Amino acid sequence: MSALHQDEPAPRRLVDAFGRVASDLRVSVTDRCNLRCSYCMPAEGLEWLPKPELLTFEELTRVISVAVGLGVRSVRLTGGEPLLRRGLPELVRQIAELEPRPSIAMTTNGLGLDRLAGPLREAGLDRVNVSLDTIDRDVFTRLTRRDRLDDVVAGLAAAADAGLTPVKVNAVAMRQVNDEGVADLLQWCLDRGYQLRFIEQMPLDAQHAWQRSNMVTQTEILDRLAERFTLSPTAQDRGSSPAQTWLVDGGPATVGVIASVSQPFCGACDRLRLTADGQLRSCLFARTEDDLRTPLRSGASDDDLAEHMLALVASKKAGHGIDDPTFLQPARPMSAIGG
Ligand code: 5AD
Ligand code: SF4
Repeated sequence: MSALHQDEPAPRRLVDAFGRVASDLRVSVTDRCNLRCSYCMPAEGLEWLPKPELLTFEELTRVISVAVGLGVRSVRLTGGEPLLRRGLPELVRQIAELEPRPSIAMTTNGLGLDRLAGPLREAGLDRVNVSLDTIDRDVFTRLTRRDRLDDVVAGLAAAADAGLTPVKVNAVAMRQVNDEGVADLLQWCLDRGYQLRFIEQMPLDAQHAWQRSNMVTQTEILDRLAERFTLSPTAQDRGSSPAQTWLVDGGPATVGVIASVSQPFCGACDRLRLTADGQLRSCLFARTEDDLRTPLRSGASDDDLAEHMLALVASKKAGHGIDDPTFLQPARPMSAIGG
């Protein structure tokens, strides 16, 4: 039909200089967290953003609606821990009313999900990814510095009951912390129908303690899993999904690995990020941000906001450059960017 309307401007899309199109918006709703995973935060926590700097639900929905107008089709709520943001189902409801309705997912540590899975599902949440690095209680307590494994397990069960499926579990393997338990974790997920994906640890910890030599690579994870399971690559194209997947013992169950460091997928990246304080980022590792909060709070039009987004995406770098000698960790840690 477009051929009949040649005067209509082509719809604007979030295209960067390398031809990648941003269609997935990750929205951090808080930088706070109730765990202290050692690959993320120091034991004492961080200095949290002052509340007036957080975007309100109305402001968040407005930014998301502009992004949807520019072709964003999926929204993922993250943190910190997103469930700590009071009234989260109301935000989900507002996002679900946008046209076209984006898919709505959430990345959570699972604490509080036993209570909130139902209300979030009713509000329009489609799926969850729950972070769980071990099913050994002592290891969990050491890694997250909180004795809360039972709450995460209850949260996962509630997510499955509420139909937030497929329930995905994200795990970061750390040497001499939880790496020996990766096969146990996979068996536990298989028994419950959860889709497990391992993520290589990235240099995003607030303490700047990451070292490449300490990172447990995809190869090591697969070797450990192969001691107990038969893994065969799935035919499925990786596409813009960062996880490569393997059939476990002939399938249909699969396990995934997100090899962000050893096999970067930046060339297929379709993501854009909004921090809880209204800064737009083109990459987890970007060293610059675009402030949307100031224009949002000083009367900018939707078109002004769209121009900000288009310009930021146009400036997106080719890759994260973790392997470059000049690589510098972003100023914000993961918890303040959103995973
Ligand atoms: N490297 C890889 N993954 C990380 N996550 C948090 N910090 C890191 C890191 N440094 C994961 C969490 C969660 C998601 C938000 O990102 O475990 O699954
Ligand atoms: Fe919290 Fe997630 Fe960081 Fe763990 S990784 S401390 S759950 S924000």
